[in-house]
Amino acid sequence: MMIDLINKLEKEHSLTADEYKYLIDNRNEEYASMLSEKAVDIRKKIYGNAVFIRGLIEISNICKNDCLYCGIRGGNKNCDRFRLTKEQILSCCENGYSLGFRTFVMQGGEDMYFSDDVMCDIISEIKTRYPDCAITLSLGERSYESYKKLFDAGADRYLLRHETADKAHYAKLHPDNLSFDKRMQCLENLKKIGFQTGCGFMVGSPFQTSEHLAKDLKFIEEFKPEMCGIGPFIPHKDTVFNNYTPGTVELTCYLLSIIRLISPSILLPATTALGSIDPVGREKGILAGANVVMPNLSPLDTRVKYSLYNNKLSSGAESAQGKAILEDKINSIGYRIVTDRGDYKRI
Ligand code: 5AD
Repeated sequence: MMIDLINKLEKEHSLTADEYKYLIDNRNEEYASMLSEKAVDIRKKIYGNAVFIRGLIEISNICKNDCLYCGIRGGNKNCDRFRLTKEQILSCCENGYSLGFRTFVMQGGEDMYFSDDVMCDIISEIKTRYPDCAITLSLGERSYESYKKLFDAGADRYLLRHETADKAHYAKLHPDNLSFDKRMQCLENLKKIGFQTGCGFMVGSPFQTSEHLAKDLKFIEEFKPEMCGIGPFIPHKDTVFNNYTPGTVELTCYLLSIIRLISPSILLPATTALGSIDPVGREKGILAGANVVMPNLSPLDTRVKYSLYNNKLSSGAESAQGKAILEDKINSIGYRIVTDRGDYKRI
């Protein structure tokens, strides 16, 4: 049964939600390596042994939301807040460009300071200075009109994790003022506008079941995002989920392989969270089917303040300045980092 399902997934890039659940519930090492082998094979056909890098610029940890799992949630009084200036952001890009980054990701909490005018000004300035670079935004929920303005100003991609594809589960992870339907509408809007759109979820988030994960996979299959960020849930000390069990590297990698097989050309990062819970998490992610890494380009003093979860990595190979270390690690597993925008390949 398992082998039939794995072969079906490889051939058809599609399973029913029940079949995804079965794949998750009955996993073992042998099936995991079958899946990762197939995932790596199919990825090689499309992207060769290239690993794309993105320079991550955390522009603000100020957030109006109070997501129960997140260390920079608005209600966290212990969080030391910061906001980068346009000049600081541009200097991150300058630094990143010289290090070989051709995609800049501006990520932040839902900080109202970054209005459409402020963001569009920054986006067009970056595009003028670095016309050969892609801009990815990760700024949470905004209106259709707002997303459209950001796109017209030159932003290419947008990351907005759906967090969970199950409405009741969504409600357990978020305060009442945040809605699952609104989240999904935002994702639809981003796609409609023309962004390369990324969704994603945490693996092992509180109350998550294999049924929820099966829905996440079915959602990815149907929504067809160009990117998907998944990483283990890691508790943060200043949240109600402080004492909850973290997600595992093993299940994260298993899901990465499945997602690669669902969507062969998807841009799939080995996330910081994965690198943070295992010293070789990043490498394990790539060997499971991931093809993107996002080292931190933020100014050194604000980096530690962007604390989404305990012990979040921001130095060494996780930092842009540590690109040489990262390069060695990637080379040692048979891949190579490329100086390229690393766009989604439509096949
Ligand atoms: N553990 C792992 N990932 C987290 N995120 C937020 N808090 C945590 C946590 N405690 C993820 C969410 C969010 C992204 C920016 O970081 O999925 O979308």
